[in-house]
Amino acid sequence: MPSAQHDLLVIGGGPGGYVAAIRAAQLGLNTACVDKEETLGGTCVRVGCIPSKALLESSEKYWEARHELKSHGIEIGETKLNLEAMMRRKSSVVRALTMGVDGLFRKNKITRYVGMARFEGPGRVVVSGKDGETAIEAPKIIIATGSKTALLPGIQLQGDRICTSTEALSFPEVPRELIVIGAGYIGLEMASIWGRLGAKVTVLEYLNRILPGMDTELATEAQKLFAKQGMDFRLQMKVVGAEVKGERCVVRCENAEPLEADRVLVAVGRVANTDGLGLESIGLEVDEKGRIQVNERFATRTEGVYAIGDVIGGPMLAHKAEEEGVACVEWIVRNYGHVNYEAVPAVVYTQPEIASVGHTEDELKAEGIAYKKGVFPFRANGRARSIGVVDGFVKVLADAETDRVLGVHIIGPRAGDIIAEAAAAIDFSATSEDIGRCTHAHPTLAEALKEAALAVDGVAIHI
Ligand code: NAI
Repeated sequence: MPSAQHDLLVIGGGPGGYVAAIRAAQLGLNTACVDKEETLGGTCVRVGCIPSKALLESSEKYWEARHELKSHGIEIGETKLNLEAMMRRKSSVVRALTMGVDGLFRKNKITRYVGMARFEGPGRVVVSGKDGETAIEAPKIIIATGSKTALLPGIQLQGDRICTSTEALSFPEVPRELIVIGAGYIGLEMASIWGRLGAKVTVLEYLNRILPGMDTELATEAQKLFAKQGMDFRLQMKVVGAEVKGERCVVRCENAEPLEADRVLVAVGRVANTDGLGLESIGLEVDEKGRIQVNERFATRTEGVYAIGDVIGGPMLAHKAEEEGVACVEWIVRNYGHVNYEAVPAVVYTQPEIASVGHTEDELKAEGIAYKKGVFPFRANGRARSIGVVDGFVKVLADAETDRVLGVHIIGPRAGDIIAEAAAAIDFSATSEDIGRCTHAHPTLAEALKEAALAVDGVAIHI
């Protein structure tokens, strides 16, 4: 078997792994990265964040052309959907980005291996690719193998009829009726795409609310707005089975009549991807969700083996994995690394967008932390009025005593961009007064954040 040696081997070429590899190369390590896929970028670039954002953008334009352009004084003829062209555009966006990561690897002289990696003892990994096996020895190995769709008992996936988000990003036609199981990030983004393109979407959620973990006030507003867009929410629905029956799929729920649709998307969460890694050969165990335990340096119990991103605890977010990749490598090389988990933003790319950073109001109440709250509606923001998207608000939560910003929650236009300032504010331990006294360009959507910060002390100007 051919063999090779490197200072560092990263297993997984997603946002956690490829960023870790680039940072390691920057810091002078002879670095290699192995991924089972031919293209780099992981779930995020190939079948997650990027293609979904491409389709969200396209479907939004279609929706605008059909429902909104008229109000801008733009009259176009009949709007027709060319789904094939939309999918081609999505694929070209993905291709450009995967090639971009390839280019970054070449620039940083990172060695690539394509194939399944499995540990065969400490410091030794065997990669099985289409041309056979290669043994790689490295004193430092980072596991960044990400996550995969969680399945539900009673449900057998069936191609693109009862499927995961991967298949739902490439449906060959717009389903007339789509059932989405799970009202989380994936469920709501996919429901938005296919709903805008013409599907009648029913969202089944086990809990009595959508977006668990997000600030309740935000989730309540979101549900109201999505219902207006035509999504049919059925809460407190425990799905116990789903089958394909000819042209239709039947979904069975506890204490409710079965529901039918053309296609069913299962979006009930994701689980760590550690299958086939041979962790037992290096004495590593995973918890009940398949996750690997690490310490604050991302080191596992096994000397020289580290793990980052979706395979360890915390939110399954690409940017969280990237930060961990950088910090893990910096711990290895420089003996210091840093991720501020208090300041990791989360964004749902629906229309309007939903974005959060720091503590939710529910958490502050539960923990008995005294807080002040400032809210500012986009309806009172000049830019939101000009672009014609006025639903939603910004909410700033600050410590009652010190005024330090504890959380910021936004539902509204470009919330995912505005949250960056809030994340920086929390990272720099800013107070709400700090944000309120910063000059914000006029007219911008970001002014709504400044006003919400001013509202914490009851001194918002435009409301
Ligand atoms: P999620 O955890 O966000 O939501 C899953 C939903 O399914 C929850 O509301 C849960 O209560 C519900 N559920 C669970 N079992 C159910 C059942 N038997 N019947 C009905 N509902 C049930 O998981 P999701 O949406 O699959 O996303 C997975 C991960 O991917 C998340 O951790 C998310 O952070 C990440 N992601 C992030 C995105 C972003 O940053 N914009 C986009 C897509 C995914």
